[in-house]
Amino acid sequence: MQHSARDMDDHPTIDPKQDPQVRRIIRKLAFISEPPKNDTQVASLFPGFNFDVRLVAGITPIERGGLLDFFIDRPEGLNGWIINLTVDGVGQVFDGENEFTVSPGDLLLIPAGVRHYYGRHPDSPKWWHRWIYFQPRAFWKPWLSWERETGGVFLLPDGGEGSSSEFFRLFVEVEKWSVLDDPLSIDLAFNRLEHILLSAARIDQATKAVPINMDERVLAACNLITENLHKPLTVAQIADHVCLSPSRLSHLFRSYVGTGLLQWRDAQRVQYAMQMLRITNEPIKSLSVMVGYEDPLYFSRVFRRHAGMSPRTFRERSMRVTSNEPDEMTADN
Ligand code: FCB
Repeated sequence: MQHSARDMDDHPTIDPKQDPQVRRIIRKLAFISEPPKNDTQVASLFPGFNFDVRLVAGITPIERGGLLDFFIDRPEGLNGWIINLTVDGVGQVFDGENEFTVSPGDLLLIPAGVRHYYGRHPDSPKWWHRWIYFQPRAFWKPWLSWERETGGVFLLPDGGEGSSSEFFRLFVEVEKWSVLDDPLSIDLAFNRLEHILLSAARIDQATKAVPINMDERVLAACNLITENLHKPLTVAQIADHVCLSPSRLSHLFRSYVGTGLLQWRDAQRVQYAMQMLRITNEPIKSLSVMVGYEDPLYFSRVFRRHAGMSPRTFRERSMRVTSNEPDEMTADN
């Protein structure tokens, strides 16, 4: 199903049932008896779907006794992150002592590799939730951890004051941009997702006693790195630029950003490479130099470590996704 960019100007209705996209899914669900192989929108709601792209978004309208009324159970989690917004009914996350419930307006954030176990709360006739599966950009790291956490899953309860309708609108936009087939639309989907994560982090930090601010020198180091991604700057040169010793900068960097400085630069370079792979036909060899790796083999190794696939496969898959061909279903999910 394709949307035109003009659809983005329409204000989605807050009542999920009135959303044309939701109605379409419900209609499709009414006519099937097993997971379809060729409809990504519906196939992703069933076990066995292979989430191997950068971003997939959808809505799961679970109704008591319906086709989707099962617990989503992924003991090893997924390769990417999930953000989940309850739009109707009540959901249950985990069981036993970790169990908690979510109601409309509540957000969940599930890091890669963390167990998924959630479904309709038995006392509620339904649980409708919107979700976005994504591979985070490296600099999002500071926003990807909220105060309340259980079993590795973060919870941001609805804070009132209209924030949930704003989140709802943004989730709908992410989904709409993510299915358009021109190469920049996926960046617009990421842009809305970034908005969601920033707003959530902002609400979360307002509830903390001491808000976390980024150290100015670490920020300056990040800026220097991103402006010179293609240059082989050493830690000593970067540290010199921000008036710190290399060991002090490395220590500060790790404590604010959560990874080592050179690792972070690799992640930035890979993000940039992904962008170039999707929107240009630049041969991989010259692209590797553009993002800072003289040796294309080394570039492929770094890329594979971050993206889980080679640059060539990534380009082929992005082309397949942007032309909206269905993904294969696999049994390893
Ligand atoms: C769907 C689930 C949804 C989310 C995505 C990734 O099958 O219904 O909650 O986990 O997968």
